Amino acid sequence: MVNNVNSLYTSIMHNTLIVDNSSPEIERLYSLNLFTWVNSRLIPKDSIDQAIDYLEITKDDIDLIIVRYKENNSSQLKTLKEKLDEQGVKSPVLVVGTKSGEIADFTYIESILDIKDIVKYSAIMLKTTAASMAHLKVPDYFPIPVEFFSYITSPTFKIFKKSGEDFVLHLESDDEYTLRELDDFLKDYDTPYLYVLSDQRLHFVSYLSQEIVNQISFRELSDNDKITAADMTQFLLSKKLKKMGITPQTLKMAKRNMEVMITDSKMSPTVNSLMKKLMSNKASYLFKHSQVLVYLCMHIMDHIEWGNEEQKKTLSFVAFFHDVMLETDDQARIHSQQELDESRLTPVEKKLVLEHAQKAAEIVQKYPKAPMGADTIIRQHHGIPHGIGFSEYYSGKISPMTIVFILAEELADDILRTSPEFNIKAKIRKMRDKYPTQRFKKILDILDEIPM
Ligand SMILES: [Fe+2]
Ligand SMILES: [Fe+2]
Repeated sequence: MVNNVNSLYTSIMHNTLIVDNSSPEIERLYSLNLFTWVNSRLIPKDSIDQAIDYLEITKDDIDLIIVRYKENNSSQLKTLKEKLDEQGVKSPVLVVGTKSGEIADFTYIESILDIKDIVKYSAIMLKTTAASMAHLKVPDYFPIPVEFFSYITSPTFKIFKKSGEDFVLHLESDDEYTLRELDDFLKDYDTPYLYVLSDQRLHFVSYLSQEIVNQISFRELSDNDKITAADMTQFLLSKKLKKMGITPQTLKMAKRNMEVMITDSKMSPTVNSLMKKLMSNKASYLFKHSQVLVYLCMHIMDHIEWGNEEQKKTLSFVAFFHDVMLETDDQARIHSQQELDESRLTPVEKKLVLEHAQKAAEIVQKYPKAPMGADTIIRQHHGIPHGIGFSEYYSGKISPMTIVFILAEELADDILRTSPEFNIKAKIRKMRDKYPTQRFKKILDILDEIPM
């Protein structure tokens, strides 16, 4: 029975031609997602010329063509269009990596990492509706091509292998030992698929996609896609930090993503220029609010009399790590006990929100050469000295650097919530009423003058 469904599933498979000569990881990412979401196999070609040659032979067998836009292949897109018309090939073309283009019949997607849109448009072009995607009849054990398993760095899924007509549990899996075992197994396994339970396949694919994006070199990516990549892998980093703490792997991931935030802040002369970049990107609130925080903290440290380079580094580090234990935007938007009580979060999530400052501080204490005092600011970033819970009354135990961070976070939240209609003067006026004492005045004066 399972076998019949399995062969039915593969027999209705679509064929997608992909043209990209620069990144095997991008090819893998598309291959995994198109296979899972729209039941298509990917046929890679290095250039548009190669694709045209291939189409001459296969003609109608190709259901979709995806071309990664590069400056040096843009003129060839016209040639591709002419050849398709000449040969009467009806395959639709999706161009990824550019917002728009000259050929009206082609569909353009700006971000090469916008998997959601790439899958959505591929589905439309392959005439696979959203409903049929969700209810696609899949076997009980969902096949995943074996080469994808080499991207796994922390197995959290049951993995099955096929033995005759049966599926047997191969890895129960949640520890490093089974990861080594998986490696050995992959070396001499000679069938094309391993299997996950079908109802877990979409979670598994989203996890694997993050692992693959983590392997993509940033040199390959536009500035916009660097933000997307950092956002996608930030969630993975959070999970790995919870599970393994600071390791060479998590350290490398953190440094890479922190670099994106700091460089982006340095390259933005005004709040609006940064916001323009962030608004056109689909990254999470969790990521964006940390990014705006880096920007605001750097600005304050540049203008407050006791600010220096060292403290700029500390606050950027804090902005990156302060909410690293949180998993969703809804969790990150909570800034008071009342908001937490009124939220629809589950009890487990509520506990995580209550403790996230303390937990992140514990992680950072083990970070090699972390900036001095960063763990304290992280622990206190919701106004509670020991890091569990929220307070809006800041005792003398809360350091001046923490006060800077708390005010910057309140402003960052407001900027993100109200952009592009953000009114800095009105917000600072409200904050002056809320924080009337001398401790806050200087910081609010500086924020009042921030170049918009
Ligand atoms: Fe936060
Ligand atoms: Fe927080």
